[in-house]
Amino acid sequence: MDKQTVKQRFGIIGSSTLLDRAIEIAIQVAPTDLTVFITGESGTGKESFPKIIHQLGARKHGNYIAVNCGAIPEGTIDSELFGHEKGSFTGATDNRKGYFEVANGGTIFLDEIAELPLSTQARLLRVLENGEYMRVGSSKVFKTDVRIVAATNVNVPTAIADGKFREDLYYRLNTVPINVPSLRNRKDDIVLLFRKFAADFADKYRMPTLQLNEEAKQIIMDYSWKGNVRQLKNVTEQISIIEKDRLITPEVLRKYLPDERNSKLPVLYQNQKDSHLSERDLLYKVLFEMRQDVTDLKKLVREIMKDEQMARVFQKSNTNIIRDIVEDTGVAVQMEPMNPHSDFQNVENASPAYASKPQEYDAVPIQESEIVEESLSLQDKEIELIKRALKKHNGKRKIAAQELGISERTLYRKIKEYNIS
Ligand SMILES: Nc1ncnc2c1ncn2[C@@H]1O[C@H](COP(=O)(O)OP(=O)(O)OP(=O)(O)O)[C@@H](O)[C@H]1O
Ligand SMILES: [Mg+2]
Repeated sequence: MDKQTVKQRFGIIGSSTLLDRAIEIAIQVAPTDLTVFITGESGTGKESFPKIIHQLGARKHGNYIAVNCGAIPEGTIDSELFGHEKGSFTGATDNRKGYFEVANGGTIFLDEIAELPLSTQARLLRVLENGEYMRVGSSKVFKTDVRIVAATNVNVPTAIADGKFREDLYYRLNTVPINVPSLRNRKDDIVLLFRKFAADFADKYRMPTLQLNEEAKQIIMDYSWKGNVRQLKNVTEQISIIEKDRLITPEVLRKYLPDERNSKLPVLYQNQKDSHLSERDLLYKVLFEMRQDVTDLKKLVREIMKDEQMARVFQKSNTNIIRDIVEDTGVAVQMEPMNPHSDFQNVENASPAYASKPQEYDAVPIQESEIVEESLSLQDKEIELIKRALKKHNGKRKIAAQELGISERTLYRKIKEYNIS
Protein backbone atom coordinates (compact mmCIF):
# COMPACT_ATOMS: atom_id res chain seq x y z
CA MET A 1 0.00 0.00 0.00
CA ASP A 2 1.37 3.41 -0.84
CA LYS A 3 1.63 6.47 1.37
CA GLN A 4 -1.32 8.24 -0.18
CA THR A 5 -3.69 5.31 0.25
CA VAL A 6 -2.59 4.90 3.84
CA LYS A 7 -3.29 8.57 4.54
CA GLN A 8 -6.74 8.27 3.06
CA ARG A 9 -7.58 5.05 4.79
CA PHE A 10 -6.42 6.21 8.22
CA GLY A 11 -7.59 9.82 7.91
CA ILE A 12 -4.15 11.32 8.10
CA ILE A 13 -3.85 14.82 6.74
CA GLY A 14 -0.50 16.31 5.82
CA SER A 15 2.20 16.13 3.22
CA SER A 16 5.31 17.29 5.03
CA THR A 17 8.51 15.36 4.54
CA LEU A 18 8.81 14.43 8.21
CA LEU A 19 5.28 13.06 8.40
CA ASP A 20 5.70 11.20 5.12
CA ARG A 21 8.88 9.67 6.44
CA ALA A 22 7.12 8.42 9.58
CA ILE A 23 4.35 6.88 7.45
CA GLU A 24 6.85 5.27 5.11
CA ILE A 25 8.64 3.60 8.02
CA ALA A 26 5.30 2.30 9.33
CA ILE A 27 4.47 0.85 5.90
CA GLN A 28 7.88 -0.78 5.58
CA VAL A 29 7.93 -2.26 9.04
CA ALA A 30 4.29 -3.47 9.03
CA PRO A 31 4.89 -6.86 7.33
CA THR A 32 7.64 -7.75 9.79
CA ASP A 33 7.14 -8.72 13.42
CA LEU A 34 9.51 -6.09 14.73
CA THR A 35 8.65 -4.07 17.81
CA VAL A 36 7.93 -0.44 17.01
CA PHE A 37 8.35 2.49 19.35
CA ILE A 38 6.39 5.60 18.47
CA THR A 39 7.44 8.90 19.95
CA GLY A 40 6.30 12.46 19.52
CA GLU A 41 4.81 15.33 21.44
CA SER A 42 1.31 15.14 22.77
CA GLY A 43 -1.39 15.50 20.10
CA THR A 44 0.82 14.79 17.09
CA GLY A 45 -1.23 11.81 15.93
CA LYS A 46 0.70 8.84 17.27
CA GLU A 47 -2.39 6.71 17.64
CA SER A 48 -2.86 6.09 13.92
CA PHE A 49 0.51 4.40 13.60
CA PRO A 50 -0.11 1.13 15.48
CA LYS A 51 -3.31 0.76 13.47
CA ILE A 52 -1.40 1.14 10.21
CA ILE A 53 1.19 -1.37 11.39
CA HIS A 54 -1.44 -3.90 12.41
CA GLN A 55 -3.65 -3.49 9.34
CA LEU A 56 -0.82 -3.69 6.85
CA GLY A 57 0.81 -6.66 8.52
CA ALA A 58 0.30 -10.39 8.46
CA ARG A 59 -1.55 -10.21 11.77
CA LYS A 60 -4.41 -8.11 10.47
CA HIS A 61 -6.88 -10.96 11.03
CA GLY A 62 -5.68 -11.38 14.59
CA ASN A 63 -6.77 -9.27 17.54
CA TYR A 64 -5.68 -5.68 17.89
CA ILE A 65 -5.70 -4.51 21.47
CA ALA A 66 -4.89 -0.95 22.46
CA VAL A 67 -4.03 -0.46 26.12
CA ASN A 68 -3.65 2.97 27.65
CA CYS A 69 -1.07 2.16 30.31
CA GLY A 70 -1.55 5.57 31.92
CA ALA A 71 -5.25 5.00 32.52
CA ILE A 72 -5.03 1.69 34.42
CA PRO A 73 -4.45 1.90 38.19
CA GLU A 74 -1.08 0.62 39.32
CA GLY A 75 -2.70 -2.05 41.48
CA THR A 76 -4.49 -3.75 38.61
CA ILE A 77 -2.20 -3.22 35.62
CA ASP A 78 -0.37 -6.56 35.95
CA SER A 79 -3.63 -8.40 36.15
CA GLU A 80 -5.03 -6.52 33.15
CA LEU A 81 -1.99 -7.22 31.01
CA PHE A 82 -1.04 -10.70 32.11
CA GLY A 83 -4.22 -12.05 33.71
CA HIS A 84 -4.66 -13.52 37.16
CA GLU A 85 -5.52 -16.74 38.93
CA LYS A 86 -8.64 -17.13 41.00
CA GLY A 87 -8.01 -16.07 44.59
CA SER A 88 -4.73 -14.29 43.85
CA PHE A 89 -6.07 -11.11 45.44
CA THR A 90 -9.29 -9.87 47.02
CA GLY A 91 -11.88 -9.70 44.29
CA ALA A 92 -10.16 -12.22 42.02
CA THR A 93 -13.13 -14.54 41.98
CA ASP A 94 -12.23 -16.18 38.68
CA ASN A 95 -9.29 -16.87 36.49
CA ARG A 96 -8.88 -14.04 34.08
CA LYS A 97 -7.08 -13.77 30.76
CA GLY A 98 -4.80 -10.78 30.32
CA TYR A 99 -4.44 -8.68 27.19
CA PHE A 100 -1.29 -10.54 26.20
CA GLU A 101 -3.25 -13.75 26.12
CA VAL A 102 -6.20 -12.24 24.26
CA ALA A 103 -3.92 -10.58 21.73
CA ASN A 104 -2.08 -13.84 21.02
CA GLY A 105 -1.50 -13.97 17.27
CA GLY A 106 -2.31 -10.28 16.92
CA THR A 107 -0.95 -6.90 17.92
CA ILE A 108 -0.92 -5.11 21.22
CA PHE A 109 -0.55 -1.35 21.34
CA LEU A 110 0.88 -0.14 24.63
CA ASP A 111 0.09 3.55 24.68
CA GLU A 112 1.68 5.86 27.26
CA ILE A 113 4.15 3.10 28.05
CA ALA A 114 6.32 5.33 30.23
CA GLU A 115 3.51 5.25 32.79
CA LEU A 116 4.06 1.57 33.52
CA PRO A 117 5.30 0.79 37.03
CA LEU A 118 8.82 -0.64 37.18
CA SER A 119 7.60 -4.06 38.28
CA THR A 120 5.33 -4.27 35.22
CA GLN A 121 8.19 -3.13 33.03
CA ALA A 122 10.18 -6.15 34.23
CA ARG A 123 7.32 -8.50 33.25
CA LEU A 124 7.03 -6.80 29.88
CA LEU A 125 10.74 -7.17 29.24
CA ARG A 126 10.38 -10.90 29.66
CA VAL A 127 7.55 -11.01 27.11
CA LEU A 128 9.68 -9.06 24.67
CA GLU A 129 12.65 -11.35 25.18
CA ASN A 130 11.01 -14.73 24.87
CA GLY A 131 7.24 -14.29 24.74
CA GLU A 132 6.88 -15.61 28.30
CA TYR A 133 4.75 -14.30 31.13
CA MET A 134 3.00 -15.44 34.26
CA ARG A 135 -0.47 -14.60 35.44
CA VAL A 136 -0.70 -12.74 38.74
CA GLY A 137 -0.83 -15.29 41.56
CA SER A 138 0.55 -18.10 39.45
CA SER A 139 4.00 -19.46 38.75
CA LYS A 140 2.94 -21.23 35.59
CA VAL A 141 4.70 -19.83 32.54
CA PHE A 142 2.51 -18.92 29.57
CA LYS A 143 3.68 -18.18 26.07
CA THR A 144 2.29 -15.56 23.75
CA ASP A 145 2.97 -14.55 20.19
CA VAL A 146 2.17 -10.86 20.15
CA ARG A 147 3.52 -8.04 18.12
CA ILE A 148 4.18 -5.07 20.34
CA VAL A 149 3.83 -1.45 19.33
CA ALA A 150 4.42 1.12 22.07
CA ALA A 151 4.02 4.88 22.22
CA THR A 152 4.84 7.73 24.53
CA ASN A 153 5.10 11.49 24.60
CA VAL A 154 7.51 11.32 27.52
CA ASN A 155 11.22 11.85 27.14
CA VAL A 156 12.37 8.31 27.80
CA PRO A 157 16.11 9.01 28.23
CA THR A 158 15.15 11.47 30.97
CA ALA A 159 12.77 8.93 32.51
CA ILE A 160 15.65 6.42 32.48
CA ALA A 161 17.96 8.94 34.12
CA ASP A 162 15.29 9.55 36.77
CA GLY A 163 15.03 5.82 37.45
CA LYS A 164 11.46 5.64 36.17
CA PHE A 165 12.05 3.61 33.05
CA ARG A 166 14.20 0.52 32.54
CA GLU A 167 17.00 1.10 30.10
CA ASP A 168 17.02 -2.51 28.90
CA LEU A 169 13.31 -2.28 28.16
CA TYR A 170 13.85 0.91 26.19
CA TYR A 171 16.44 -0.72 23.94
CA ARG A 172 14.21 -3.73 23.45
CA LEU A 173 11.23 -1.58 22.50
CA ASN A 174 13.18 0.80 20.35
CA THR A 175 13.94 -1.74 17.61
CA VAL A 176 12.21 0.46 15.06
CA PRO A 177 11.66 4.02 16.26
CA ILE A 178 9.09 6.22 14.56
CA ASN A 179 8.98 9.87 15.47
CA VAL A 180 5.77 11.71 14.70
CA PRO A 181 6.75 15.33 14.03
CA SER A 182 5.29 18.26 15.93
CA LEU A 183 3.23 20.82 14.01
CA ARG A 184 6.05 23.32 14.42
CA ASN A 185 8.16 21.02 12.29
CA ARG A 186 5.55 20.72 9.54
CA LYS A 187 4.11 24.19 9.25
CA ASP A 188 2.78 23.58 5.76
CA ASP A 189 0.40 20.98 7.14
CA ILE A 190 -1.25 23.45 9.49
CA VAL A 191 -3.46 25.12 6.90
CA LEU A 192 -4.35 21.76 5.36
CA LEU A 193 -5.41 20.43 8.73
CA PHE A 194 -7.37 23.57 9.53
CA ARG A 195 -9.24 23.25 6.25
CA LYS A 196 -10.07 19.62 6.88
CA PHE A 197 -11.27 20.23 10.44
CA ALA A 198 -13.22 23.33 9.38
CA ALA A 199 -15.01 21.27 6.71
CA ASP A 200 -15.72 18.45 9.18
CA PHE A 201 -17.16 20.81 11.79
CA ALA A 202 -19.18 22.69 9.19
CA ASP A 203 -20.71 19.36 8.33
CA LYS A 204 -21.25 18.38 11.91
CA TYR A 205 -22.84 21.67 12.97
CA ARG A 206 -24.52 22.32 9.63
CA MET A 207 -22.90 25.67 9.06
CA PRO A 208 -20.90 27.20 6.22
CA THR A 209 -17.22 26.32 6.34
CA LEU A 210 -14.78 28.65 8.10
CA GLN A 211 -12.26 30.44 5.91
CA LEU A 212 -9.04 32.10 6.96
CA ASN A 213 -7.90 35.32 5.37
CA GLU A 214 -4.26 35.51 4.26
CA GLU A 215 -3.02 37.17 7.44
CA ALA A 216 -4.86 34.69 9.61
CA LYS A 217 -3.26 31.84 7.65
CA GLN A 218 0.14 33.27 8.41
CA ILE A 219 -0.74 33.51 12.09
CA ILE A 220 -1.78 29.90 12.43
CA MET A 221 1.36 28.86 10.60
CA ASP A 222 3.57 30.88 12.92
CA TYR A 223 1.83 29.81 16.08
CA SER A 224 3.65 27.24 18.21
CA TRP A 225 0.76 24.74 18.68
CA LYS A 226 2.16 23.19 21.81
CA GLY A 227 -0.80 20.79 21.84
CA ASN A 228 -0.19 20.02 18.16
CA VAL A 229 -2.98 18.63 15.98
CA ARG A 230 -5.27 18.06 18.96
CA GLN A 231 -5.05 21.74 19.90
CA LEU A 232 -5.56 22.86 16.32
CA LYS A 233 -8.62 20.66 16.06
CA ASN A 234 -10.08 22.01 19.31
CA VAL A 235 -9.46 25.62 18.33
CA THR A 236 -11.08 25.04 14.94
CA GLU A 237 -14.10 23.51 16.61
CA GLN A 238 -14.43 26.40 19.06
CA ILE A 239 -14.27 28.97 16.30
CA SER A 240 -16.70 26.95 14.17
CA ILE A 241 -19.26 27.00 16.92
CA ILE A 242 -18.82 30.49 18.29
CA GLU A 243 -18.02 32.81 15.39
CA LYS A 244 -20.89 33.97 13.23
CA ASP A 245 -18.74 35.55 10.56
CA ARG A 246 -17.18 32.69 8.61
CA LEU A 247 -14.20 34.66 7.32
CA ILE A 248 -11.66 34.53 10.10
CA THR A 249 -9.37 37.51 10.59
CA PRO A 250 -6.29 37.73 12.83
CA GLU A 251 -8.31 39.66 15.44
CA VAL A 252 -10.82 36.84 15.75
CA LEU A 253 -8.16 34.16 15.65
CA ARG A 254 -6.12 35.71 18.44
CA LYS A 255 -9.05 35.35 20.82
CA TYR A 256 -8.68 31.58 20.55
CA LEU A 257 -4.91 31.27 20.65
CA PRO A 258 -3.32 31.44 24.10
CA ASP A 259 -0.91 34.37 24.13
CA GLU A 260 2.57 33.00 23.60
CA ARG A 261 4.14 36.16 24.92
CA ASN A 262 2.86 35.22 28.35
CA SER A 263 4.85 32.06 28.27
CA LYS A 264 8.57 32.60 28.14
CA LEU A 265 9.23 28.97 28.85
CA PRO A 266 10.61 26.95 25.99
CA VAL A 267 8.42 24.31 24.47
CA LEU A 268 9.39 21.06 26.01
CA TYR A 269 10.34 18.59 23.39
CA GLN A 270 9.38 15.16 24.48
CA ASN A 271 11.02 13.04 21.91
CA GLN A 272 12.59 9.83 22.95
CA LYS A 273 15.54 9.14 20.75
CA ASP A 274 18.93 9.94 22.19
CA SER A 275 19.52 12.44 19.46
CA HIS A 276 16.56 14.53 20.55
CA LEU A 277 16.55 17.50 22.82
CA SER A 278 15.50 16.73 26.35
CA GLU A 279 13.88 19.06 28.83
CA ARG A 280 17.23 19.47 30.57
CA ASP A 281 18.89 20.30 27.24
CA LEU A 282 16.37 23.03 26.68
CA LEU A 283 16.96 24.51 30.08
CA TYR A 284 20.66 24.55 29.28
CA LYS A 285 19.79 26.31 26.06
CA VAL A 286 17.81 28.97 27.87
CA LEU A 287 20.62 29.41 30.38
CA PHE A 288 23.11 29.67 27.59
CA GLU A 289 21.11 32.34 25.83
CA MET A 290 20.75 34.29 29.04
CA ARG A 291 24.47 34.08 29.65
CA GLN A 292 25.10 35.19 26.09
CA ASP A 293 22.84 38.18 26.62
CA VAL A 294 24.60 39.12 29.83
CA THR A 295 27.99 38.77 28.16
CA ASP A 296 26.88 40.94 25.27
CA LEU A 297 25.57 43.54 27.67
CA LYS A 298 28.79 43.53 29.68
CA LYS A 299 30.79 43.98 26.51
CA LEU A 300 28.54 46.80 25.40
CA VAL A 301 28.86 48.57 28.72
CA ARG A 302 32.62 48.17 28.67
CA GLU A 303 32.84 49.62 25.18
CA ILE A 304 30.77 52.58 26.22
CA MET A 305 32.84 53.12 29.32
CA LYS A 306 36.04 53.23 27.27
CA ASP A 307 35.04 56.48 25.73
CA GLU A 308 35.44 59.13 28.39
CA GLN A 309 32.76 61.41 27.06
CA MET A 310 30.33 58.61 26.39
CA ALA A 311 31.01 57.23 29.84
CA ARG A 312 30.08 60.54 31.38
CA VAL A 313 26.82 60.72 29.46
CA PHE A 314 26.14 57.09 30.17
CA GLN A 315 26.80 57.42 33.86
CA LYS A 316 24.68 60.49 34.06
CA SER A 317 21.67 59.01 32.38
CA ASN A 318 21.95 55.58 34.00
CA THR A 319 22.90 56.33 37.55
CA ASN A 320 20.27 54.10 39.06
CA ILE A 321 21.12 51.14 36.89
CA ILE A 322 24.82 51.48 37.56
CA ARG A 323 24.19 51.78 41.26
CA ASP A 324 22.01 48.68 41.22
CA ILE A 325 24.57 46.68 39.32
CA VAL A 326 27.37 47.65 41.64
CA GLU A 327 25.27 47.11 44.75
CA ASP A 328 24.09 43.73 43.56
CA THR A 329 27.36 42.29 42.49
CA GLY A 330 30.13 44.57 43.58
CA VAL A 331 31.83 43.70 40.31
CA ALA A 332 29.72 44.70 37.46
CA VAL A 333 31.32 47.21 35.20
CA GLN A 334 34.68 48.81 35.02
CA MET A 335 34.06 52.34 36.11
CA GLU A 336 35.90 55.38 35.12
CA PRO A 337 38.58 56.21 37.66
CA MET A 338 36.71 58.08 40.30
CA ASN A 339 36.92 61.69 39.68
CA PRO A 340 35.59 63.86 42.45
CA HIS A 341 34.07 66.13 39.84
CA SER A 342 32.47 63.52 37.75
CA ASP A 343 28.75 63.15 37.60
CA PHE A 344 29.07 59.68 38.89
CA GLN A 345 30.55 60.98 42.08
CA ASN A 346 27.33 62.86 42.57
CA VAL A 347 25.48 59.61 42.63
CA GLU A 348 27.62 58.52 45.51
CA ASN A 349 26.78 61.65 47.37
CA ALA A 350 23.13 61.27 46.60
CA SER A 351 22.93 57.75 47.88
CA PRO A 352 23.89 56.93 51.43
CA ALA A 353 23.65 53.20 50.77
CA TYR A 354 26.05 53.48 47.94
CA ALA A 355 28.34 55.82 49.77
CA SER A 356 28.60 53.37 52.63
CA LYS A 357 30.35 50.87 50.37
CA PRO A 358 33.19 52.86 48.92
CA GLN A 359 35.28 49.79 48.18
CA GLU A 360 32.76 48.78 45.56
CA TYR A 361 33.85 51.64 43.39
CA ASP A 362 37.01 49.72 42.75
CA ALA A 363 35.00 47.49 40.54
CA VAL A 364 36.97 44.64 39.12
CA PRO A 365 37.42 44.96 35.41
CA ILE A 366 35.87 42.17 33.45
CA GLN A 367 38.43 40.04 31.74
CA GLU A 368 37.55 38.31 28.52
CA SER A 369 39.03 35.09 29.87
CA GLU A 370 36.72 35.26 32.85
CA ILE A 371 33.68 35.40 30.63
CA VAL A 372 34.95 32.57 28.51
CA GLU A 373 35.74 30.42 31.54
CA GLU A 374 32.38 30.96 33.12
CA SER A 375 30.58 29.90 29.97
CA LEU A 376 32.71 27.00 28.97
CA SER A 377 30.49 24.13 30.02
CA LEU A 378 27.37 25.84 28.76
CA GLN A 379 29.10 26.51 25.48
CA ASP A 380 30.03 22.85 25.17
CA LYS A 381 26.43 22.03 25.84
CA GLU A 382 25.31 24.38 23.13
CA ILE A 383 27.69 22.87 20.60
CA GLU A 384 26.38 19.44 21.52
CA LEU A 385 22.78 20.60 21.14
CA ILE A 386 23.47 22.10 17.74
CA LYS A 387 25.19 18.94 16.55
CA ARG A 388 22.32 16.79 17.74
CA ALA A 389 19.67 18.99 16.17
CA LEU A 390 21.57 18.94 12.86
CA LYS A 391 22.02 15.21 13.01
CA LYS A 392 18.39 14.66 13.81
CA HIS A 393 17.32 16.67 10.79
CA ASN A 394 20.00 15.28 8.49
CA GLY A 395 21.85 18.56 8.34
CA LYS A 396 18.78 20.58 7.40
CA ARG A 397 19.56 23.87 9.04
CA LYS A 398 16.14 25.38 8.68
CA ILE A 399 14.39 22.67 10.66
CA ALA A 400 17.28 22.30 13.11
CA ALA A 401 17.12 26.04 13.81
CA GLN A 402 13.37 25.78 14.37
CA GLU A 403 13.85 23.03 16.91
CA LEU A 404 16.60 24.94 18.64
CA GLY A 405 14.42 28.02 18.77
CA ILE A 406 16.93 30.23 16.99
CA SER A 407 16.93 31.82 13.57
CA GLU A 408 18.57 30.04 10.68
CA ARG A 409 21.07 32.88 10.46
CA THR A 410 22.04 32.55 14.09
CA LEU A 411 22.47 28.83 13.59
CA TYR A 412 24.66 29.48 10.56
CA ARG A 413 26.77 31.93 12.56
CA LYS A 414 27.15 29.48 15.44
CA ILE A 415 28.14 26.65 13.10
CA LYS A 416 30.91 28.85 11.75
CA GLU A 417 31.88 30.19 15.13
CA TYR A 418 32.22 26.73 16.69
CA ASN A 419 33.50 25.17 13.51
CA ILE A 420 30.84 22.50 13.53
CA SER A 421 31.05 20.21 10.56
N1 LIG B 1 -2.33 14.08 10.54
C1 LIG B 1 -3.55 14.13 11.11
N2 LIG B 1 -4.63 14.29 10.34
C2 LIG B 1 -5.85 14.35 10.90
N3 LIG B 1 -6.09 14.28 12.20
C3 LIG B 1 -5.05 14.14 13.02
C4 LIG B 1 -3.71 14.05 12.51
N4 LIG B 1 -2.88 13.91 13.54
C5 LIG B 1 -3.62 13.91 14.63
N5 LIG B 1 -4.94 14.04 14.34
C6 LIG B 1 -6.04 14.13 15.31
O1 LIG B 1 -5.52 14.81 16.45
C7 LIG B 1 -6.00 14.23 17.64
C8 LIG B 1 -4.81 13.80 18.48
O2 LIG B 1 -4.16 12.71 17.90
P1 LIG B 1 -3.65 11.45 18.77
O3 LIG B 1 -4.68 11.10 19.79
O4 LIG B 1 -3.19 10.39 17.87
O5 LIG B 1 -2.42 12.16 19.50
P2 LIG B 1 -1.24 11.50 20.32
O6 LIG B 1 0.01 11.73 19.56
O7 LIG B 1 -1.59 10.10 20.67
O8 LIG B 1 -1.21 12.41 21.64
P3 LIG B 1 -0.95 12.00 23.17
O9 LIG B 1 0.52 11.77 23.30
O10 LIG B 1 -1.39 13.19 23.94
O11 LIG B 1 -1.76 10.78 23.45
C9 LIG B 1 -6.90 13.09 17.22
O12 LIG B 1 -8.24 13.58 17.21
C10 LIG B 1 -6.45 12.77 15.82
O13 LIG B 1 -7.49 12.23 15.07
MG1 LIG C 1 -2.19 9.18 22.45
